[in-house]
Amino acid sequence: AAGKGVVVAATIDEALNAVNDLMDNGRVGEAGKKLVIEDYLEGVEISVLAAVSVTPEFAKKGTATIIPFLPARDHKRLLDGAKGPNTGGMGAICPLDDVSEETMEQFNKDILEPTLNGLIQEGFDYRGFIFFGVMLTKNGPKLLEYNVRLGDPETQAVLPLMDFDFEQMCEAIINGTLKDFSFNWKKGYQVAPVAVSGGYPGEYKKGCEIKFNESILNESKGKIFIAGAIVGRRSRSNDNLITNGGRVLACSAFGETFEKAWKNAYQGLSSVKFDDIFFRKDIGLPGAAESGKL
Ligand code: GLY
Repeated sequence: AAGKGVVVAATIDEALNAVNDLMDNGRVGEAGKKLVIEDYLEGVEISVLAAVSVTPEFAKKGTATIIPFLPARDHKRLLDGAKGPNTGGMGAICPLDDVSEETMEQFNKDILEPTLNGLIQEGFDYRGFIFFGVMLTKNGPKLLEYNVRLGDPETQAVLPLMDFDFEQMCEAIINGTLKDFSFNWKKGYQVAPVAVSGGYPGEYKKGCEIKFNESILNESKGKIFIAGAIVGRRSRSNDNLITNGGRVLACSAFGETFEKAWKNAYQGLSSVKFDDIFFRKDIGLPGAAESGKL
C-alpha cells in the first residue's frame, strides 16, 4: 500500500470505516484486498537493546541466551513537548525511572523469553544484538518491532553506562559464554540529545563547518558521537568536520542524578556550533516523551 495502508482506529466505527475504505472503496487498490488486524495499543515507548548468543550448538548445551541492557527511551518528534514531525530520533536517556523492575520482569517473561525460544526452535545462529521496540500499555509491555542491530540514539545513552568490557562481551556472545558474563552497569544516568541541521527532517543544508569549544566540552565530560558529518578539506592546510546529514551528532553525558546528566549533556552540546544547528531542549524532561497510539 506504499505506506498508506495503516489506520489506527480508536473505535469500532473507525475500524469498520477503515475496512470499507480499504476493501470496498479500494483506496489503496489491490493492496487493500488483504488486511492485517492487530491490537490497538496506547502507552509510552521504551527501547531495550539486548545481547544475543544463540546457535543450535549453544541451545543443545543450554547456554543459548539473550541478555537485556538497561531500558532507554528515544524522543522521535522534532520539537519540544513531543510536537512536530517524526524524526530518526532527537535524543535518548537511560535508564528510565518510570520503568519498574516488575515491568522489566514482565518484558522478560512475555517478550524476551519467547524470542529466545523462537530463535532456538527455528535453529538460528544469531550472535549479535536485537533492539526491542516496546510500548508500555496498561495491559503490560507489548512488542512493536525488532531491529537486528543496536539503536540510534539509544546506543549513545546506553553503552556509556557499561561497567564491563564491550569487547569481552562480544567474545562471550560469539563463544557461547554470555550466560556467565557479568553485566554491571554504572549507577547513574546518561542523557544524549541530538543536534540536527535546521530544516531536518525536511530539506536542510550540508557542508557547514562544525566547530567545538574544547574547554566547554571537556568541562561537561560529554562525549560527542558523530553521525551526519564527514571530514572535508576546506583549505590546503586544514581538514575540518563538516555536516553531511540531517542528524549530525549527539552529545552523551553522565551524571549521578538525572539532573546532573542532563546539565552535563546540554553543556556539552552548547560547545558545538554549525550553521542552522537545531536541537530539542527537553530530552528526558516531563512531557518530552510522546504517548503513542498504534
Ligand atoms: N531509535 C530507534 C531505532 O534505532 O530504531
